[in-house]
Amino acid sequence: MHAVDFVEVARSSGWDCHVIATPSGAAFADLDALEAASGHPVTTQHRKPGTPRRDRPKADAVVIAPATANTICKLAAGIADTYALDVASECVGLGIPTMVVPFANSALTGRAPFRRATTALIEEGVSFFEVPEHEPRHGGPLAERFPWLPAMTHAAELAERRRSGPEPAAAAPAASAGPRPRSSRIR
Ligand SMILES: Cc1cc2nc3c(=O)[nH]c(=O)nc-3n(C[C@H](O)[C@H](O)[C@H](O)COP(=O)(O)O)c2cc1C
Repeated sequence: MHAVDFVEVARSSGWDCHVIATPSGAAFADLDALEAASGHPVTTQHRKPGTPRRDRPKADAVVIAPATANTICKLAAGIADTYALDVASECVGLGIPTMVVPFANSALTGRAPFRRATTALIEEGVSFFEVPEHEPRHGGPLAERFPWLPAMTHAAELAERRRSGPEPAAAAPAASAGPRPRSSRIR
């Protein structure tokens, strides 16, 4: 619902920002506002076979936010049954700096599949932002304080680091106080 905040922050920082939503995410988001803010259509589905490729530049960085437990577990497992997951999987495979900003309740994040998924993704070089945990049905106030700006800032740092030379072996701290990445290792 608040994803337009990210797009506005990204655009005002000079980034060209393309939004891809999962079908579930699209039900929450204001797609018109996202298109107006980004200046690009919001994509939710694969193109039909035989139709032209989308006119979208290669990404310098990918931010998956707010990432559901569902999408995180599937991304780690290599499941690409949404267009968003397909693009994300390829970006991880291509070594494009990718950052996941989870938003899932403690009943989901405490489960073994979620823990295994985050560990596996970090091992693949994906960065994670830690968002404070919330109990089931208590996510509303946290959603209002979702760390769009730190996520944007850190993604920009990852992209810059990749542009400017060999990757560092270990994580660097996040640019600002508040939620911090668990890892910013880039492949
Ligand atoms: C009102 C509502 C709120 C939801 N909020 C979350 C959430 O904050 N985090 C989460 O992991 N799943 C949440 N879910 C469950 C996801 O919508 C569900 O797992 C869905 O399959 C996610 O699809 P996606 O990962 O393809 O976007 C919510 C569902 C509903 C109906």
